[in-house]
Amino acid sequence: MKLRSEIIGVGSYVPPKVYTNFDLEKMMDTSDEWIVQRTGIKQRHWVDASVTTSDLALEASLKAIANAKIDKKDIDMIIFATLSPDHDFPGTGCFLQAKLDLPEIAVLDIRQQCTGFLYALSVADKFLISGTHKNILVVGAEVHSKGLDKTPNGRNVAVLFGDGAGAVVVSARELKDEKKDSRFIHSKLHADGSFAKELWLPAPGNAFGAERLSQAMLDEGLHYPQMNGKTVFVHATKRMAECLVQTCQEAGVTLEEVDVFLFHQANLRINSKVAEMLNIPESKVFNTIENYGNTTAATIPLGMDDAIKAGALKKGMLVASAAFGSGFTWAGALWRQ
Ligand code: ACO
Repeated sequence: MKLRSEIIGVGSYVPPKVYTNFDLEKMMDTSDEWIVQRTGIKQRHWVDASVTTSDLALEASLKAIANAKIDKKDIDMIIFATLSPDHDFPGTGCFLQAKLDLPEIAVLDIRQQCTGFLYALSVADKFLISGTHKNILVVGAEVHSKGLDKTPNGRNVAVLFGDGAGAVVVSARELKDEKKDSRFIHSKLHADGSFAKELWLPAPGNAFGAERLSQAMLDEGLHYPQMNGKTVFVHATKRMAECLVQTCQEAGVTLEEVDVFLFHQANLRINSKVAEMLNIPESKVFNTIENYGNTTAATIPLGMDDAIKAGALKKGMLVASAAFGSGFTWAGALWRQ
């Protein structure tokens, strides 16, 4: 019996409090005009002080499990992607597992930043088609707002990021029709660590001397993300376009056959550029960045959930996805919803 993996449930959650660009104008030296022109972002959701990444993940996971119409006890693994964990260790997947009350099942945390969800989905597929696991909860969740420099010093990064979570339940099913079955079809995963410091969070870390975190590091702002925006932009457009083509070619699918493109949401200009480079009609690209900003590992499952709710993504449609982020890491994926 040949197995395939199918997304059988989708859920997402964003915290209720919305911060518009106009709200940010009051915190840092920025403007709605600058943010919209450069990024397409109009607002983002940020958590209250008591809320953690695993809290957002729990909400999204419960919705995905309900949407999948399975008992949560049927889940036999959690794969969790985040760059903003509750704590350095253990992985946030362990905190989520406890909150879901699913003791003893395997938990795997993925640290691939903006590409985390596609790496996670790809790993889930391998476990499912090998027959070792039946139902895997794949989660992407972030609380960025607590780690941003919200003074004018950090405005180049702080305006970009939002908090949120998305989750899918992926299940092993018997393959009947390779062409028509809903299934994860193919993925290409990449990284180039020589660009690690173009977009990174230096501290806490071991590279600065005797302590993982010192007053000197805090004074230098090393506990805030550092980004070379222009380099990220150039590589993101090139790599996302490249790996979309590669993924589709290797799967024997043309870009024209794809019904919906669910790209990572870092910047509307990145996604428009990728669409332009590949002659993809804008109408096939489902963007959510306007409402949420960049929620990193959560952008793709959040977008999937919104696209389904908007009627833009239906069962049986062919979906292509691409992501790029810190590492640098990038990936393409293709599935039939
Ligand atoms: N508000 C107002 N002005 C700002 C802000 C802000 N929030 N941030 C920077 N500026 C100013 C700069 O100080 C600079 O002023 P100057 O000309 O007087 O020196 C000016 O705006 C231009 O700054 P640049 O950094 O050159 O702006 P750029 O046109 O490159 O746009 C941006 C910046 C939007 C970050 C762009 O480089 C980009 O989108 N890069 C991709 C980065 C990205 O998407 N990162 C997300 C994480 S990675 C991922 O998910 C793929």
